[in-house]
Amino acid sequence: MIINCAAYNAVDLAEQQPEIAALINAAAVKNIATLCRDKNIFLIHYSSDYVFDGAKGNLYTEHDTPNPLNVYGKSKCAGEEAVITSGGNFLLFRTSWVFGNGPQNFIHKMLQWSQKNPVLKLTADEVSVPTSTIDLVDITLRSIDKGLSGLYHLTNSDYASRYEWGRYVAKKLSLRSTIIPVPMSMFPSAAQRPLFSAMTNLQLQEEIGTAIPDWRDAVDRFLLEYPQQ
Ligand SMILES: NC(=O)c1ccc[n+]([C@@H]2O[C@H](COP(=O)([O-])OP(=O)(O)OC[C@H]3O[C@@H](n4cnc5c(N)ncnc54)[C@H](OP(=O)(O)O)[C@@H]3O)[C@@H](O)[C@H]2O)c1
Repeated sequence: MIINCAAYNAVDLAEQQPEIAALINAAAVKNIATLCRDKNIFLIHYSSDYVFDGAKGNLYTEHDTPNPLNVYGKSKCAGEEAVITSGGNFLLFRTSWVFGNGPQNFIHKMLQWSQKNPVLKLTADEVSVPTSTIDLVDITLRSIDKGLSGLYHLTNSDYASRYEWGRYVAKKLSLRSTIIPVPMSMFPSAAQRPLFSAMTNLQLQEEIGTAIPDWRDAVDRFLLEYPQQ
């Protein structure tokens, strides 16, 4: 079995480096998927909610058609295509707003910002599903045990805006910063991002026969172990 977690994930920089994003997120994935088919190796690969444009205004299911808005999303979409059409056996998981240990996550960044700024502006119209690495791994392993294959949405349950997520963390940690909701248009960026890219994980919950925890529960467990600032 190969579990491919590698990706080019610099969403804004990808707008200037579409060839590199395509090499890592699509061409390399195609090579891995072809190798897996030829050697009869089961492939697990991760994709993103950014394959969707956010125009649905409701939770995305596995049956919805991708329509990525930015270079990163297009390259991830091409990677999905490569896995699906390879002819090999695979599990393809779309996930979103992943948080875990290390500095590359929203919770860590929020704590850094709150130390320097009395007021934090967080987007209220940017909505997806915060997903913990612990649950991502746990559900990946359960899916393997169940012998699943195909495409699934693997996120924690329910959804939130960045503002709601940030407020939840701030309340849990009793941060003193004031958090105010702002529109995403307040932060112009190189890459256009979907407004509502939250996905439903119901299909996966049914297949594995286990409830996937709410993102708030995942945040609670994460903060219990998180080094105090
Ligand atoms: N983070 C999110 O919110 C999120 C949301 C949706 C989907 N995903 C997907 O989840 C997966 C994991 O992403 P992540 O956010 O966890 O990113 P990450 O922590 O930055 O991990 C990406 C890994 O890819 C490796 N990598 C990059 N280019 C490579 C190359 N050319 N050859 C070999 N390895 C290379 C990196 O290695 P180095 O550390 O050595 O550079 C890094 O270990 C990706 O498929 C991503 O698209 C993530």
